Amino acid sequence: MPWVIESSRFLVFCGDSRRIRQIASRAEVEFANDHLDAFLNAASDAAIHLSSFIWAAGSVGLGTCPISVVRNHIDEVSAILDLPDHVFPLAGMCVGWPERLEQLSPRLPTSITVHRDRYDDHDVHALIANCDQQRQQTRPRGEVWSAAKAAMVGRSERTHLARLLRSKRVCLDRILRIPVRGGCQCEFCSTECTARSKQTRRSGRLGRREGEGCNLLVAVV
Ligand SMILES: Cc1cc2nc3c(=O)[nH]c(=O)nc-3n(C[C@H](O)[C@H](O)[C@H](O)COP(=O)(O)O)c2cc1C
Repeated sequence: MPWVIESSRFLVFCGDSRRIRQIASRAEVEFANDHLDAFLNAASDAAIHLSSFIWAAGSVGLGTCPISVVRNHIDEVSAILDLPDHVFPLAGMCVGWPERLEQLSPRLPTSITVHRDRYDDHDVHALIANCDQQRQQTRPRGEVWSAAKAAMVGRSERTHLARLLRSKRVCLDRILRIPVRGGCQCEFCSTECTARSKQTRRSGRLGRREGEGCNLLVAVV
């Protein structure tokens, strides 16, 4: 990928499940969650930062291109960056001043990505065909979007990812049996919506306006 070398900066966004272990160890608490969820937490945190970075860079006119291919080379990348156990590369990011501006690619519409109350994709094929058509209008000479995506996932890649992650002591499959007392305590099951946003300074309960139902929206992007 020549753009990795050509870009003015190349960043690597890493999942870090090491620091929370250091915090626990400092408090003399045994880390009792060494299983897949620790990996998902670290990966999600890194993805949130990656997304914020793209927005921030774009707001000052910088262009970005995430590079998941760094996960094809976790061991080499870890060696170059001296990444310790429990720290793994999630994605690289080419950053630079774009040569020119182009029209934004249309994104999948919320009719595909947002589900109300329950997951429902009965109309997905028609919606994808519609989305392909819209993308063709912005880039008439470009390839058909869904065909390109299908071709991409048709190539086998990163088949050793689990082995590479395990070599960094990332635990992917320990099964813990944790009894749930008093039913589910998740925010959606409680009567009041107490979801807090990590991304704003607003605090307190997120109330409902009069007449608004409390609908569960599941965004699958
Ligand atoms: C998580 C993620 C990983 C990506 N990894 C790569 C990559 O390894 N190599 C690459 O050339 N582009 C990569 N891309 C860039 C996309 O393939 C695409 O070029 C970019 O998102 C712009 O697409 P758009 O025209 O739909 O905006 C990645 C994008 C995302 C969001």
